[in-house]
Amino acid sequence: MAKETVLVSGGAGYIGTHTTVALVEAGYDVVVIDNFSNSEPSAIEGVEKILGRKITFEEVDTCDKEALRKVFERYDFSTIIHFAAYKAVGESVSEPLKYYQNNLVSYMNILELMKEFKRPNVLFSSSATVYGNAEVLPVTEQTPRQPATSPYGNTKQIAEDILRDCCNAYENFYGIALRYFNPVGSHPSALIGELPRGVPNNLVPFITQTAAGIRECLAVFGNDYDTPDGTCLRDFIDVVDLAKAHVAAVNRMVSGKMKEKYEIFNVGTGTPLSVLELITRFEKANNLKLNYKIAARRQGDVPAVWADTTLANNELGWKAERDIDDTLRAAWAWEKHVRGIK
Ligand code: UD1
Repeated sequence: MAKETVLVSGGAGYIGTHTTVALVEAGYDVVVIDNFSNSEPSAIEGVEKILGRKITFEEVDTCDKEALRKVFERYDFSTIIHFAAYKAVGESVSEPLKYYQNNLVSYMNILELMKEFKRPNVLFSSSATVYGNAEVLPVTEQTPRQPATSPYGNTKQIAEDILRDCCNAYENFYGIALRYFNPVGSHPSALIGELPRGVPNNLVPFITQTAAGIRECLAVFGNDYDTPDGTCLRDFIDVVDLAKAHVAAVNRMVSGKMKEKYEIFNVGTGTPLSVLELITRFEKANNLKLNYKIAARRQGDVPAVWADTTLANNELGWKAERDIDDTLRAAWAWEKHVRGIK
């Protein structure tokens, strides 16, 4: 039987590379596109090294509809995983048009071409940010979304709604939105990982860069929250586990097992960890000391959010498996690989 092919937009990015590896390991063919706006060609080389073979890659900007059309003309795929998007929350506040333009135009291009070329399935990268500061924890997929506090978060909500409406309106059009919690870690090979440009916004890259001596001190944003140790609680999901959730969702789509035309799944571990706990675990797992200090709260942070993963466990047959200490060892191994630290 011919293998199914999956188009992966933004496949040179952090989650895209890990998902590409997982898809090929699960027996799918892939067509990866990326414009390297926030990634490097070395990411594709890392994927190929892990897999021990070349993958189909095209340098394409998903905002360029004619270039994207050529990809639809050239390759026969039934399923698209759309990762290509900007993701810096703070930057989206100062440059909203950049975010709305890039994240929504690329997405619209994908959806319009899916319809035109009769490619039925799309998997969209959504985020736990849609839950905002939820009243009841853990959050289920039924937990009401809250008004977005950043243009980045708003693009996720708008994109979810567009997908729902398309699935309702069009025949043979199916969508899954995966709401990621906090993706962390790297492939155990240390050949792919997160490659933030400039000062990292997210916690784990800041931790690993501090450990590598690139940042002098990690600021813990607030220890006066109403949480057990006063720091924020998050659901840190290993990126390799997260990649496998995409494979499970693709399996569900291509095997016609979806129960609704549009489905949403939380992708997290179901277990909260505080910022301080994560720092301590990182230090212990890697046998090092981090230079950190308590600083003021960061605007827009919610005190706590973690996932109820029952739906993904039952319907996707997927469960987070990686141990957080292994995850934090992998994160450090990747940073060392990037910096050439022995
Ligand atoms: C953020 C985004 C989320 C996005 C995710 C991508 C919001 C509010 N958050 O999640 O939408 O999908 O990144 O990974 O939209 N922290 C520090 N010091 C640092 C960095 C972070 O103490 O230098 C703390 C933060 O205050 C927070 C926790 O670490 O409590 C996690 O922060 P971060 O990694 O940025 O993720 P989120 O803000 O949860």
